[in-house]
Amino acid sequence: MCGIVGYMGKSNAKEILLNGLKELEYRGYDSAGIAILQQDTLHTFKAVGKLENLESKIKDFEVSSGFCIGIGHTRWATHGKPTEANAHPHTAEFSNVVHNGIIENYQEIKEELIILGHHFLSQTDTEVIVHLFEENLKKLDPQEAFYATINRIKGAYAILLVSKIAPNKIFYAKNGSPLIIAKGSGGIYFASSDSPLVGLASQVVYLEDGDMGVMDIEGFDLLKNIQNFSVNKTLAQKDGFRYFMEKEIYEQHSVLLETIMGRVSENGVIFDEIDQSFFLGIRSITLCACGTSYHAGMVGKYLLERLAKIRVNVVIASEFRYGGFVSQEDELFISISQSGETADTLEALKLAKEYNQKSLAICNVDNSSIVRLSDCAILTRVGLEKGVASTKAFASQVLVLWMLAVYMGRTYGHLDEREAKLQSSDMLSAIRATKVESKFHERIKRLSKRYLHGHGFFFIGRDVFYPLALEGALKLKEISYLHAEGYPSGEMKHGPIALADSNLFTIALLSEHLLYDKMQSNIAELSARDATICVIGSKECESADDMIIIPQAKSYMEEFFSMMLGLQLLSLEVAIRLGNDVDMPRNLAKSVTVE
Ligand code: M6R
Repeated sequence: MCGIVGYMGKSNAKEILLNGLKELEYRGYDSAGIAILQQDTLHTFKAVGKLENLESKIKDFEVSSGFCIGIGHTRWATHGKPTEANAHPHTAEFSNVVHNGIIENYQEIKEELIILGHHFLSQTDTEVIVHLFEENLKKLDPQEAFYATINRIKGAYAILLVSKIAPNKIFYAKNGSPLIIAKGSGGIYFASSDSPLVGLASQVVYLEDGDMGVMDIEGFDLLKNIQNFSVNKTLAQKDGFRYFMEKEIYEQHSVLLETIMGRVSENGVIFDEIDQSFFLGIRSITLCACGTSYHAGMVGKYLLERLAKIRVNVVIASEFRYGGFVSQEDELFISISQSGETADTLEALKLAKEYNQKSLAICNVDNSSIVRLSDCAILTRVGLEKGVASTKAFASQVLVLWMLAVYMGRTYGHLDEREAKLQSSDMLSAIRATKVESKFHERIKRLSKRYLHGHGFFFIGRDVFYPLALEGALKLKEISYLHAEGYPSGEMKHGPIALADSNLFTIALLSEHLLYDKMQSNIAELSARDATICVIGSKECESADDMIIIPQAKSYMEEFFSMMLGLQLLSLEVAIRLGNDVDMPRNLAKSVTVE
């Protein structure tokens, strides 16, 4: 997904912008560029592909000492192919712009500007911004021209613009796409997320939708809502692991303790951040999310219905937005999102708010758009997740939904104190189960070589292990590019089993605590069709070709977290054996901020 950085000050702008773009690499991109304005000259560099390509183009460019300003961008193509012409910054005669988001009315603006004599070099929507700005400058001063430009465009955007007409200033605007302004000893910084600011900034302002302005070196202190910035750099490093995804799998057992800290005790579950009255009178819940977060929502449905006896509807945000929305009275709308910026989830939340539904966000990023828009939020507290394939965020979302189910079960009188205490103790055991034992990882690493060349994978499970099967399949396909589908085991005989043969790999999640016999029969059905079966469970299974043995567990949720670990490690090892870039899989982006 596109990323933005900006800088003004006396440090080396080229290095700061390039380092900032490197910090945004994990979001996924297909081209990149920077523009530096110094001594009235605007230098623009762009390149397709990895940042190394941009770096080699710029290597002979020296930034002269003294004050200068610059903007940079990583692009993930939406309008127009990933070419150098379509990469940002986009230029007109004497100005450059970078933009995240989509300008919906760009076509009509472009046509008007062409009639007025403007020449367009790219197929992008973004280029109209810089031309419209220069057109407006014919009648207005720079600030007015920028504001008139922003007021004319429709859509979602985070924009930075620099111009020779105002050589000490950066023009900025935000609507629906994140943008941060920060200050540090080296100057003023801009970024579309926290990571480029780590180690540079001491204060930040998370801009709100509708914010626009013109920043100069004195301007930061005049902004509203200045906050201290203390994100730790080491958290953003790989800590010796091969990939961020691997590091994130390994840190689950410690970060999940953060998730429950102050919330889960031997007496049950509390949420200090939410007034208990917020939950009173709620009769049903909609859980809304995309991708992995949607799978967490599906697990949440089983838990909330079982423990809190409340009706739950789980929806994929992109479907919910355009489906017939029947707003129920007394319904709680819960959006689940790691990033808090996923466009579909954000728009679905806006829709729910239009219908006056109470809203709760389960999110990993404080100050994200989804958190800010929701009535209240439960933060998952697992720190920056850099791997595009979500791991620790999923675990924390499931844990929060489990806590919520216990909390609501108590609030509504469906769980007694003893049961709530038992659940709390199960949560602690489940977190312990996510600690990676080296023997377990080694076993999966060895096993992974047998699962590289089939004609596809089935992941099967029942109850909460069904969404876990979906998540296992998603993880594998995201980073290995192998075809994988998740199914509820009972559905196999209704169609999918037709695919079964010895080159079809089945990963079966066999719980000792839930529907053990039913699941055994489903595995036997596949084995009878000669499918190659790997069972993840604590008991040996006769029909299995391979076993990934998990420790015996006290509860089915403890098994859930052990199996989740097994699935994450299996995907990781298969993808590594296939030589893929685990942290930046092809065609994917970490934060999907466009529809
Ligand atoms: O940031 P979000 O949780 O809202 O993101 C939703 C999905 O885009 C995300 O979970 C995606 O499916 C991941 N790549 C899964 O690994």
